[in-house]
Amino acid sequence: TLPSPPGPLKNTLTKLVNTPAHPFRAPGKNDIRGPCPGLNTLANHGYLPRNGIARPSQIIDAAQEVFNMGNDLAIFLTYAAHLVDGNLITDLLSIGGKAEATGPNPPAPAIVGGLNTHAVFEGDASITRGDAFFGDNHSFNETLFQELVIFSNKFGNGFYNLASARELTFQRIQDSIATNPQFSFISPRYYTAYAKSVFPIVFFIDGRNDTGLNLNLDVARGFFQDGKMPNDFFRANFSTTLNKVGGGIQAVFTPHPVHPGTNNGTVNSYTLDPDSADFTDFCKFYTDFVTKTVRGLYPNAKGQLLTALNRNLNFLFSALTIEDQGCTQVPLFT
Ligand code: HEM
Ligand code: MG
Repeated sequence: TLPSPPGPLKNTLTKLVNTPAHPFRAPGKNDIRGPCPGLNTLANHGYLPRNGIARPSQIIDAAQEVFNMGNDLAIFLTYAAHLVDGNLITDLLSIGGKAEATGPNPPAPAIVGGLNTHAVFEGDASITRGDAFFGDNHSFNETLFQELVIFSNKFGNGFYNLASARELTFQRIQDSIATNPQFSFISPRYYTAYAKSVFPIVFFIDGRNDTGLNLNLDVARGFFQDGKMPNDFFRANFSTTLNKVGGGIQAVFTPHPVHPGTNNGTVNSYTLDPDSADFTDFCKFYTDFVTKTVRGLYPNAKGQLLTALNRNLNFLFSALTIEDQGCTQVPLFT
């Protein structure tokens, strides 16, 4: 009885989304926020439950409505996160740390730890959040934001745009190689690192802005730090699909390619990992995510849990058929 994923928006044009019905309110002390400025913003404006515990279908609807996220991208991201970080039986996901409110724990090695959980979805070399090795992988980090400012001034004429993203993403990876002995930069994180560096450019810019894809740094701070839309914010005037984000990833990756790898317990020991999916094979990213990451958490699910797992795996794959990504579905778990 899990709800099926919502369909696409009927109207994909820009419109006011910081409306009187959705005022910003800072989270209360029992409200959960996490590493994703997009979802924090949705919760702070009441497009998601303000306590930070949401159903996948609510997240998809909200990301589409407020940010004009494409249906395939919203479904893929949301079910990927839910499969590794959410409670599959209760259909609830914490957008930050582990929360009792998502329901009883399934047997280990499942984690159900919310989006803060390191290494199943969240990962290293984030833009404004530190690496888990340094103790906090989810809070806004002013030092890192200042790096964003410096790079945006140097490469983006004072804006966060594709040129800034290209240079900053490369720098964040170099920073982690040089300082984090446990730096890990393999799939699935490898994909999300590049995708998430593009997200501010497609989602945080007002849809009436006709000066190109240049994100003002005060607006950027509002989203990254406070999870807050500017007054009078209009969403993007186009939907960002999986294919569109792939184009952005190419623009960020190609001029400064870093291939998947890890440090080996000491800094500056970055070693390529030929087993990790890379941008030459999107289907391997999907396949390995299911057969390694998800299966690793649920090696022998039974009964109701197995049913829920397989339903969510079907939802995940359905995203790859909206615009045919040419992937073959991994057989359901038995
Ligand atoms: C980061 C989940 C939608 C913007 C993250 C992270 C997670 C996450 C787990 C942490 C990854 C990391 O940096 O280590 C999700 C899920 C979504 C979603 C499940 C479901 C639709 C969005 C939307 C936006 C967005 C709609 C923008 C409007 C970002 C950005 C980061 C991020 C910019 C990088 C933060 C940083 O590196 O400082 N997201 N997100 N996300 N998310 Fe989301
Ligand atoms: Mg991170």
